[in-house]
Amino acid sequence: MPLTAGHLGVVHDPEVEGTARSGICCLNEGDRRLKMEFEKRILCIGAGYVGGPTMAVIADKCPQYRVELVDINEERIRRWNSEDLPIYEPGLDEIVRRARGRNLFFTTEVATAIEHSDIIFVSVNTPTKAFGQGAGQAADLQYWEKTAYQILKHSHSDKIVVEKSTLPVRTAEAMQRILHSRGTSPRFDVLSNPEFLAEGTAVENLLQPDRVLVGCMNTESGHKACDQLEAIYANWVDRSRIIRTNIWSAELSKLVANAFLAQRISAINSISALCEKTEADVDEVAHSIGLDSRIGKKFLKAGIGFGGSCFKKDILNLVYICRQHGLDEVADFWERVVEINEYQQSRFVANMISEMFNTIAGKSILVLGFAFKADTGDTRESPAAQVCRRLLEEHAQLRLCDPKALENARKELIGVQGVSFHEDPYEAAENVHAVALLTDWQCYRELDYAKVFDRMEKPAFLFDGRNLLDHRRLFEIGFNVYPVGKSPLRQL
Ligand code: NAD
Ligand code: UGA
Repeated sequence: MPLTAGHLGVVHDPEVEGTARSGICCLNEGDRRLKMEFEKRILCIGAGYVGGPTMAVIADKCPQYRVELVDINEERIRRWNSEDLPIYEPGLDEIVRRARGRNLFFTTEVATAIEHSDIIFVSVNTPTKAFGQGAGQAADLQYWEKTAYQILKHSHSDKIVVEKSTLPVRTAEAMQRILHSRGTSPRFDVLSNPEFLAEGTAVENLLQPDRVLVGCMNTESGHKACDQLEAIYANWVDRSRIIRTNIWSAELSKLVANAFLAQRISAINSISALCEKTEADVDEVAHSIGLDSRIGKKFLKAGIGFGGSCFKKDILNLVYICRQHGLDEVADFWERVVEINEYQQSRFVANMISEMFNTIAGKSILVLGFAFKADTGDTRESPAAQVCRRLLEEHAQLRLCDPKALENARKELIGVQGVSFHEDPYEAAENVHAVALLTDWQCYRELDYAKVFDRMEKPAFLFDGRNLLDHRRLFEIGFNVYPVGKSPLRQL
């Protein structure tokens, strides 16, 4: 049953009654009741892929705090307040169900939410700018800047403002200036607390983070604010994993972490191209080098390239910042990471065309997966979407399957000719000429490929864009098999 997000909907939970604080005499009645019920009032502006799971985990782990999420997107808030959450994340439903209405609330009432909060996380979107100066590279800070002015407008008491969004280095300086543009009272302390969760494993990453990074201004009040933020995480994260840096290092570390992760993927994908020319096997190469503890084995899976809403945008933002500082060689270095990613997708499509006798016009292709990775319904910057667009340019007919991303796929491909959407991959396989596996969903590893093969046109082609499947077995079934970075297995 849908819940309503009453702002002053205080609960009488014995676990939280004991956390009442003193010093509440000068507050209005609403604030006074909230202060009595909850030790801290935490607000997050932006109830998306980061804000939603992060606040749900804080609320779940800290029943002594009141946690509220506010968003301008009414539909998103309606779904957060329903049984049909707006994002799919394994384990998130149970956490939201446990905390919602107890100490976790979702609302669209920005002004009241800001007024009643002590700590405000800002987790709004910071996409790549699509217009004007820096178009295609710089971060579009309009949503972030609007929240700064909203916080200023609706604040009547001191607040800690936490940058959760990924932002260009030195953004906190602008935030401080906006917030103090009307004077020093109320007082705002700005902290940087970038988020490192990955979609599909968000809950796990939040419960057991490799590290929690908090950056603050090097002032007495900056460090006091940092103490308060660290105390929230210390409810479930070991103190040794909570690290404090100067605020600029924290901001920059987030961009650099994503750039390094993406760089590893481009590095192995560049090697996959060489493997295809030399009969080396990219998975064997990755395994061999990954056993070197200095290299490590993670993020060395070759495929159709990285996607998701952040890797490309954050690297391009890093490139833009470097160029602004006159560091063109550094910018060029990071830009190549994105170029190799695009090259990998072009290579994959070119290979499909050439192996299918240099034409795919009018041919049906079963596409397995549209999400940018497994265990998410998110299709933002999905490599699968890029590949599909190029196949459509060649006039292929696509039959799209995905266990969680069909809703987003339909939105993304609205009005596009040549695509149909299917829940059942076997039904979708009827008379297709090829299968293209584009997202690494476990359920696609477990398909009955003999059944798929039986329904297809012959010769049957299978392009495994994630090196997910048992290629030898597929070959034995009768497929012509094309992995990434490995020799193809062609029927005679
Ligand atoms: P998102 O688009 O899913 O969510 C952002 C939300 O902010 C939207 O629902 C939007 O309506 C809302 N919003 C925008 N302006 C607002 C305003 N003025 N008031 C209230 N709500 C407003 O984005 P996301 O994926 O959650 O990413 C948010 C930030 O976190 C980005 O900077 C991103 O780079 C960073 N980040 C994302 C991930 C991830 O896995 N998606 C991981 C780490 C960091
Ligand atoms: C990534 C980072 O892993 C997070 O730490 C970061 O917080 C987040 O970006 C962000 O800032 O948004 P996410 O994009 O959710 O998380 O997912 P990843 O697991 O990093 O995968 C990104 C892309 O790389 C996916 O398309 C995935 O399929 C691809 N990938 C990943 C590979 O092709 N090979 C690999 O070895 C690993």
